[in-house]
Amino acid sequence: MAKIIISQSTPLSGTVRISGAKNSALPILAACLLADSDSILEDIPQLKDVENMYNLLEWIGLKINSEDNGRVQIHSSNLINHDAPYELVNKLRASFLVMGPLLARMGQTRIPLPGGCAIGTRPIDLHLKGFIAMGAKITQGHGYVEASAKKLKGAKIYLDFPSVGATENILMAACLAEGQTVIENAAVEPEIVDLANYLISMGADIKGAGTDTIKIVGVKNLKGCNHTIIPDRIEAGTFMIAAAITKGNIRIENVMPDHLKPVSAKMREIGAEVNEEDTTLVVKGNDKFKPVDIKTLPFPGFPTDMQAQFMALMSIVEGTSIIIETIFENRYMHVSELKRMGANIKIEGRTAVIEGIKKFTGAQVKATDLRAGAALVLAGLAAEGETEIEDAEHIDRGYYKFEKKLMSLGAKIHRID
Ligand code: EPZ
Repeated sequence: MAKIIISQSTPLSGTVRISGAKNSALPILAACLLADSDSILEDIPQLKDVENMYNLLEWIGLKINSEDNGRVQIHSSNLINHDAPYELVNKLRASFLVMGPLLARMGQTRIPLPGGCAIGTRPIDLHLKGFIAMGAKITQGHGYVEASAKKLKGAKIYLDFPSVGATENILMAACLAEGQTVIENAAVEPEIVDLANYLISMGADIKGAGTDTIKIVGVKNLKGCNHTIIPDRIEAGTFMIAAAITKGNIRIENVMPDHLKPVSAKMREIGAEVNEEDTTLVVKGNDKFKPVDIKTLPFPGFPTDMQAQFMALMSIVEGTSIIIETIFENRYMHVSELKRMGANIKIEGRTAVIEGIKKFTGAQVKATDLRAGAALVLAGLAAEGETEIEDAEHIDRGYYKFEKKLMSLGAKIHRID
């Protein structure tokens, strides 16, 4: 298992370019299954999760040619498999996003139930609720979900929770259904809008993406097209915290500031300087930060994917900060690891109470999921002494060349594979 070794860093400085968004690339790659001709996608990040999605799509029948510059050519003529093998799906929960496109394009699919993961049980009931409302027959057994539908019919679907994945899966299926589908209480994350923009370029009839009500009128077929993925707002937010936690000054290029509003607002509340220049953010740390509270919420609330990184910063801010994680039931796996570095954090249910300490001390710690791993890297940058992070593969799932990008900003960090 790979290790990342970090020594206390001087204030980071310089410029870093953000890669394409993992959580946009994954649903858009799945959406390629809906087209009966080729697509060219740009700014697809070279991540483990994306590689695993390629393997699944190639098994289903797409031909994929990915280049080092983030361009990916997808040849989608005929799909040969409508099922997804366990060994491919259990490497990537987001594989479940092929269910909607396969149901719409092939009329049937058989997919292993996506396991839970470190942060929660990750149910799929809302995805299935949508497919059933559209006329699909769903059976579950032996760890698989089977779905079939001669032709999906448009339906009105209310999501009990604005689930990102369920919104994406149902949105993709509805594009080829008969008639109109209305998704109510839909997720409004930027990645939903990016997916909808790609589908509309393919010929889909979608209105309201980015609002809590999305209306889709099914069409006969969709054509491949060219599309550039939006930048990764969570990678950008992670570098914002890297600037603050090292009291540095960095330029973060290739961002969409509107996607980072909740993070920028909280960083300013703490006392960091955040200046927006078109598609660049300039973030400066300060000597004195103020403790602030956060509650993770669906967009445009504070993103759950930034909670662990934010906790690392608040751990060394004098005073008491409160974090409430409302999205996932078990997203505090990083707490015990931060405590090994000296953090003073108490968990009560979904609430974390953080008493700021003077400084972290380096320690041997474990990455338990990708954002927890990123948080430990951030803590290591500020820790006195050396920090060794095991299971660094978790970080590769969501960050492209993370340690190299940090090194280019002056971080004392290297990796042992
Ligand atoms: C997406 O996961 C992201 N992953 C996650 O990013 C992100 O944390 C999450 O959205 C929330 O923003 C991708 O886009 C690939 P959800 P997803 O469905 O779609 C409950 C990262 O670090 N729920 O919005 O799985 C669920 O239990 C990852 O990059 C149901 O109850 O998130 C959870 O409490 C981690 N029933 C809440 O909704 C369902 O059918 C949020 O889940 C589906 C979800």
